[in-house]
Amino acid sequence: LARGVREPDLAGRHVVVSAGGTREPLDPVRFLGNRSSGKQGYALARTAAARGARVTLIAANTGLPDPAGVDVVRVGTAVQLREAVLKATPDADAVVMAAAVADFRPAAYATGKIKKKDGQEPEPIVLVRNPDILAEISADRPRPGQIVVGFAAETDDVLANGRAKLERKGCDLLVVNEVGERRTFGSEENEAVVLGADGSETAVPHGPKEALAETVWDLVTRRLP
Ligand code: CTP
Ligand code: CA
Repeated sequence: LARGVREPDLAGRHVVVSAGGTREPLDPVRFLGNRSSGKQGYALARTAAARGARVTLIAANTGLPDPAGVDVVRVGTAVQLREAVLKATPDADAVVMAAAVADFRPAAYATGKIKKKDGQEPEPIVLVRNPDILAEISADRPRPGQIVVGFAAETDDVLANGRAKLERKGCDLLVVNEVGERRTFGSEENEAVVLGADGSETAVPHGPKEALAETVWDLVTRRLP
């Protein structure tokens, strides 16, 4: 094979990738959101397609153009993302949760715009927990041998927090990256450690998000039945 041309080692496989960040509406004009750009998830979708996979990309609020040859499902909230993931995964060989899912959503949605009132302090925003999609699909794999991958952005004790999170979630692989003011969000590059439930640890040096994506698929293909 020529340099840069990949062997189609995901041919005949179906992979599901979530990307972007969920938005949890407060009223028709406002939401609670996060800074995920979706670029890492899109890189995962593109590289999987280039390696021959059928790809379902579940995109939460990304504004990025649909990658060629990929089925794109657009969603807004965590609850919608969960629905789309559960719908796409029964026949999936691998599921990669690269989306930043809001942990909480406003307990109530105001159907009309929330207005301020003269001389009155604002009402506090009451939040409720969102479903944990990664934990749910890890615990209850719709297909035997399915490989489940999570992502975690951590600011402190990155590896220890990553190991604990991998166990808590019950996934096969967890991609852990350190975030800070200038790192990761919206950037074209990434740097991470991929932790395996088998105890493995794969460092991915600072580089394009495609390179991290290729490493993820290398680790996934090795684990597929
Ligand atoms: N995730 C998910 N559903 C949620 C929250 C997170 O599926 N409600 C997934 C993310 O897509 C990611 C992984 O879980 O792949 C880890 O997300 P993270 O926010 O780091 O994990 P949390 O358990 O929410 O931990 P924390 O309290 O640190 O936010
Ligand atoms: Ca979280």
